[in-house]
Amino acid sequence: MSRGVSKGALLLSAFLITPWSSLAFYLPGVAPTTYAPDDRVPLYVNHLTPGLSTKDERVHSIFAYDYYHPDFRFCTPEGGPQRIPESLGSILFGDRILTSPYELHMLKNETCKLLCEQKFDQEAINFVEERIYEYYTLNWLIDGLPAGQLWRNPDTKTKFYIPGFLLGSVVWGSGSDEESRASLNNHVDLWIDYHELGPKKMRVVGVLVEPSSRNGSKSLEGGKADCGDDTQPLLLEAGDMPVTWTYSVYWRPSPTAWATRWDKYLYVINPEIHWFSLIISTVIVVLLTGMVASILLRALRKDIARYNRLDRINLDDLSGTSAALDDGVQEDSGWKLVHGDVFRAPSHPLLLSVFLGNGAQLFVMTGLTIRELSLRIPSV
Ligand SMILES: *[C@@H]1O[C@H](CO)[C@@H](O)[C@H](O)[C@H]1NC(C)=O
Repeated sequence: MSRGVSKGALLLSAFLITPWSSLAFYLPGVAPTTYAPDDRVPLYVNHLTPGLSTKDERVHSIFAYDYYHPDFRFCTPEGGPQRIPESLGSILFGDRILTSPYELHMLKNETCKLLCEQKFDQEAINFVEERIYEYYTLNWLIDGLPAGQLWRNPDTKTKFYIPGFLLGSVVWGSGSDEESRASLNNHVDLWIDYHELGPKKMRVVGVLVEPSSRNGSKSLEGGKADCGDDTQPLLLEAGDMPVTWTYSVYWRPSPTAWATRWDKYLYVINPEIHWFSLIISTVIVVLLTGMVASILLRALRKDIARYNRLDRINLDDLSGTSAALDDGVQEDSGWKLVHGDVFRAPSHPLLLSVFLGNGAQLFVMTGLTIRELSLRIPSV
């Protein structure tokens, strides 16, 4: 049995260590990054998540999309996007953080930079149009901070940031016969707040993003771009259409210290304590804990009494364990045997995995357990 345990423990530790041994966890927000002027500040992209609209508050979708899903036609960095090691929290949240081709340099204001040009075909247009009608939101990270949009609480007039910005917007028709259309946000203005710590020591303390849809933008010679203006939105048309992705970056000094940079993101609109549900949860927790404790105590009392008897025997007097065994005391007995079963591999592990995922396994196992129980308990 001890061999089984060590094998199981080895397997478990191999599973835990191998995938991340080269990446290692980091704790986000613990160590600040300091940039000198003109240092590159990386912009990472996360998956696209569905959002809600103020116009129509139904939930339209619940799926997250990979940022580099080919039908979005987003620009990819040279050599393909790379995965960024994530914190345990973002792994649990299902984040997929990847590199991007956006080039931001500390304190370098840049207006209208060309990212890339892409061709949309009918399939991509249909795909993106559907995602815009479902209010999909882009999630970018700059120095660990989400790129957000500025909101104002109408009651208190407090300003705060909401993470994420829309992939596109729905242009509602004005007349009764006019259909609504989808416009794609192909330009972003990034407003990055930095805090000056000392000479050549800058820290990122806030990221605002203003997306806009621009029909007039096109690439010019020498890697330059013409960003047009945001009076003419880029509407998705049937057939093939080219799209130019552009961006501008502005750096603004800010008095916010690095330690409090999350405050404007963690704004609570309605800071009211829900006493009633708090009390109910506490009562349920106390009741359940008491129940589990009493069941455990009842089950273990006999075993614990047996172990206590072992303590009373002077172990030096024993030539082997046979005396203890004669006394009815074994090294492992009762509930302690369970640990052997936890790490014991089943005899045909692959056979069981076939059923996984469709509920058949649960069904079969329930049947087997009931059968086993009825065999063991004669009165049933
Ligand atoms: C960048 O542009 C913003 C907005 O126009 C301005 O407030 C800021 O001073 C500029 N920063 C630099 C380093 O030129």
